[in-house]
Amino acid sequence: KPLQAGSLLVDKGNYRHYMAKEIHEQPEVVGRALAHYLDLAKGTVRLPFELPFDPKALTRVTISACGTAFYAGVVARYWLERFARLPVDIDIASEFRYREAPLAEGGLMIVVSQSGETADTLAALRYAKAEGQHVLAIVNVDTSTIARESEIAAPILAGPEIGVASTKAFTCQLAVFACLALALGRARGVLSEAQEKALVAELIATPALMAQALKNEARVEPLARDVARASSALYLGRGPAYPLALEGALKLKELSYIHAEGYAAGELKHGPIALIDYAMPVIVLAPHDASLEKTVSNLQEVAARGGHLILIGPESARKAAAADLAGFLEMPEEAAGAFAALVYAIPAQLLAYHVAVFMGKDVDQPRNLAKSVTVE
Ligand code: G6P
Repeated sequence: KPLQAGSLLVDKGNYRHYMAKEIHEQPEVVGRALAHYLDLAKGTVRLPFELPFDPKALTRVTISACGTAFYAGVVARYWLERFARLPVDIDIASEFRYREAPLAEGGLMIVVSQSGETADTLAALRYAKAEGQHVLAIVNVDTSTIARESEIAAPILAGPEIGVASTKAFTCQLAVFACLALALGRARGVLSEAQEKALVAELIATPALMAQALKNEARVEPLARDVARASSALYLGRGPAYPLALEGALKLKELSYIHAEGYAAGELKHGPIALIDYAMPVIVLAPHDASLEKTVSNLQEVAARGGHLILIGPESARKAAAADLAGFLEMPEEAAGAFAALVYAIPAQLLAYHVAVFMGKDVDQPRNLAKSVTVE
């Protein structure tokens, strides 16, 4: 039965669940979001709004959000620091709003919210405004309270998201953040025109790589049956793959009710390594980037303790790992650059989705969760 979302009627198309439809829409909606923030003919960034401050004078960015939107911000921190050389402070909105964080006048606050109605994120926005910050909101619902109360509302153009667990909003938030980081980097003189164009070319190539990752879906199912037997799972990643590990774990617990934790791979030795046994799946997200070698050595530490390893990465990562794997999900070798996070979000979502479907859970409406949390 079609569902009313605002003024739009949304149906599941040929999919069993809204979530499946929304996962599969991602190459298209991310492409659309990118087209809104890029000049595709010139291969450069073109923000659809004027920035109300001088990017060169900016000294600090603060980001606040909840849930999956928060993890999009954690990925973006890597980009804003690297491409725009901006110091970034990021915190979940329920903490940020009460921290009494001192914010220097004229700084930039970025809030991220699919619904634009999350109570804590709205409170974080209001706090930042009172502290004299410029407020930019990355939102899906452009008529929402958060969009209205912000100085700039940057739309993610994901279209209505019905599945309670966020999927396409996450990757569209990443697309907008990536463009914003490049625009700031260019305006601040950190990136040359050639560097901007090379990074934009990488971004433009991303939707096709996401489509390639979706083609692997049949190979996710056996991994999902394996993970469904577990009572706990650990996700590991480094760099932008670290927040993806957090997001992968969040998706798994939301949908399947299996306890899961995401960890920075380098932090393994400081605790979670004590949990390693033959039964707990350790899902390693390993794009072929500068940190691959380090991630692989963490993977080998798990292997040496008889851990139950599932590697999500390219063939080159599997070769480098040279370890006994319980599962391997091959990713395109080209999803290796700064924006690999958009591509690796797909297997993380698909795995959680298929575990939940296999276990007979209500994937579109997991127990106890709400799509939009408008109370504290
Ligand atoms: C709820 C939803 C999540 C979402 C979070 C933040 O917990 O279940 O999917 O990430 O709220 O929502 P927002 O609308 O602010 O992005």
